[in-house]
Amino acid sequence: MGYRETYERCKNNPEAYWLDQAKSIDWTVAPTKALSDHGNNLYEWYADGMVNGCYNAVDRHVEQGRGNQVAIIHDSPITDSLEKITFSQLQNRVSLLAGVLAANGVDKGDTVIIYMPMIPQALEAMLACARLGAIHCVVFGGFAANELAVRIEDCKPKAILAASCGLEPGRVVEYKPLLDNAIKQSAHKPDFCVIYQREEHQCDLIPERDINWQDAVAKSRPTACIPVEGNFPAYILYTSGTTGAPKGVVRATGGHLVALNWTMKNIYNVDPGDVFWAASDVGWVVGHSYICYGPLVAGNTTVVFEGKPVGTPDAGTFWRVIQQHNVRSFFTAPTAIRAVKREDPKGEFIKKYDLSGLRALYLAGERADPDTIEWAQEKLGKPVYDHWWQTETGYTIVGNPAGLEALPVKIGSPTVPMPGYDVHILDETGHPQKPGELGAIAIKLPLPPGTLPTLWNATDRFQKSYLTTFPGYYETGDAGMMDEDGYLYIMARTDDVINVAGHRLSTGAMEEALAGHPDVAECAVIGVSDPLKGQVPMGFVCLSKGVDRPHDEITTECVKRIRDQIGPVAAFKMALVVDRLPKTRSGKILRATMVKIADSAPYKMPATIDDPAVLDEIKTALQGIGYAG
Ligand code: COA
Ligand code: AMP
Repeated sequence: MGYRETYERCKNNPEAYWLDQAKSIDWTVAPTKALSDHGNNLYEWYADGMVNGCYNAVDRHVEQGRGNQVAIIHDSPITDSLEKITFSQLQNRVSLLAGVLAANGVDKGDTVIIYMPMIPQALEAMLACARLGAIHCVVFGGFAANELAVRIEDCKPKAILAASCGLEPGRVVEYKPLLDNAIKQSAHKPDFCVIYQREEHQCDLIPERDINWQDAVAKSRPTACIPVEGNFPAYILYTSGTTGAPKGVVRATGGHLVALNWTMKNIYNVDPGDVFWAASDVGWVVGHSYICYGPLVAGNTTVVFEGKPVGTPDAGTFWRVIQQHNVRSFFTAPTAIRAVKREDPKGEFIKKYDLSGLRALYLAGERADPDTIEWAQEKLGKPVYDHWWQTETGYTIVGNPAGLEALPVKIGSPTVPMPGYDVHILDETGHPQKPGELGAIAIKLPLPPGTLPTLWNATDRFQKSYLTTFPGYYETGDAGMMDEDGYLYIMARTDDVINVAGHRLSTGAMEEALAGHPDVAECAVIGVSDPLKGQVPMGFVCLSKGVDRPHDEITTECVKRIRDQIGPVAAFKMALVVDRLPKTRSGKILRATMVKIADSAPYKMPATIDDPAVLDEIKTALQGIGYAG
């Protein structure tokens, strides 16, 4: 069956389609019903099934005779090490770690924060939680203590699993001071922490709170998988919204297993036993879905890569890994390919490696610019598939279903909606736009299995953020258009979320950090175009009356403030002192116009502007730092 037929089959009878797909997962009790409609636009999938995520990712492969197949390849050019873990070994390691958690009181439904670098133990921690029916919440290692504290405060973990350090090129990131600081800042305290001591840096433990991971696992006993209801949360993953408070996206267990399993063959075109590699981080949704659960559930070997696209040691590192481990499908962010292209424009490194085993390159996380796609297509001689999705959905909304039917690629479009996603382009009043017309991208409810059923402890916020603007639809926050063939084009975000090197960040959160500076009266943060990272943040601050300190001292403090409070990953390096911010007569800051000025793009004078002269002042300030040319 090809794409169109499959899409229509799912659309005409989603209940039958998704019950059928559920058969590829091992349930303790098979679901008799796919969708439950709770009213108020709230839906859940597979609520009457019983299932365990870890069993499906690990144990079932051992039982089915894949115990000796490699489950995880840890390739770390940063530590110059390589480790291979079979499904049998993984089962043993995970069940012992789950034993440590259980012995210390972690039970079904408890939350557990995981703050780990790119080592296999990060996946083991996720799977150990899944084994017990505990709900994990992974926090990206590039976030500062304050961001970790916000997440501890919101999801109230019983335990935190962390490593002694992460490794960035030329820099050891000590996690323990960040963790201790975050726990100190938070009103909620975990009962205990389990710390994995890495060879590269060992940390001191707090005896009454911290447990040494390796010692505890050595003394632990294997623990069985505990089945949970199909609609039971598997994990919470915080993502940036418009305000400083991140949104806790909830992922329900059954739907996520079924949907991810579906994508491994139909989108990524890999079969059990094939090696699949997503070069991302476990702290992001790509890491959850395609470093951990997706490939493991489908019986693939997954690669955990601790390195960067360039500089570890060179721009050939991706191609070396693909050759060495015979990677069949490779997934990364466009920014990573841009970094490689910048260092190796002629693709000399690509020629050094045998990439005959590679089927295709998949790009997501941010807009894939045509130059990057064309370069990769030409130099690799392989298909390059852009695909569009979000933390909220957990997997592809719009992509090229290469394993089902490879559709013609139109560069600039991530291709077509996947089964279960009824994608529409709407104008401001919610009316459908014609092909080629720009509008908000919305998805008709219900969303398919695996997508978010709600936000953690915040159903009202879920409704307000996603379900209110267009009644009956999920609002994606992206704008774009669809062509006559049903191909989608993503143009921009409709909110204040920016995308820096494939990382989703909130300008609102950065503004909150800047506003806390004692000399700052008012501020605005925008995302300006960047040839490598897609966008980078830029801050504008207006000083309080009477402040006469040198401006560069203040802007340096602003940069440090964001690094300390949000983290290095924000890549906030530019702050400007200005007298006034451009606003509408009702006081709304004209951020979108500021972005256009900074990017030297044409803009219309907003009809509601309070004082047009402020835009000239902003332009002059931007020209002073080489923008707004
Ligand atoms: N822990 C601690 N710090 C981290 C970190 C982590 N896990 N990840 C990134 N950082 C730090 C970096 O060290 C850097 O710090 P610096 O300001 O001291 O240099 C800062 O955060 C910004 O990091 P990054 O955005 O990664 O930029 P970079 O300049 O180090 O590298 C690229 C540029 C393009 C190579 C890099 O952005 C990249 O590999 N991007 C791929 C993105 C990706 O996989 N996204 C996931 C979504 S699919
Ligand atoms: P995240 O939740 O971090 O995965 O970020 C999701 C957002 O990244 C989307 O809402 C888009 O704004 C952007 N995005 C992801 N993939 C693509 C893509 N293929 N093309 C354009 N934008 C993308």
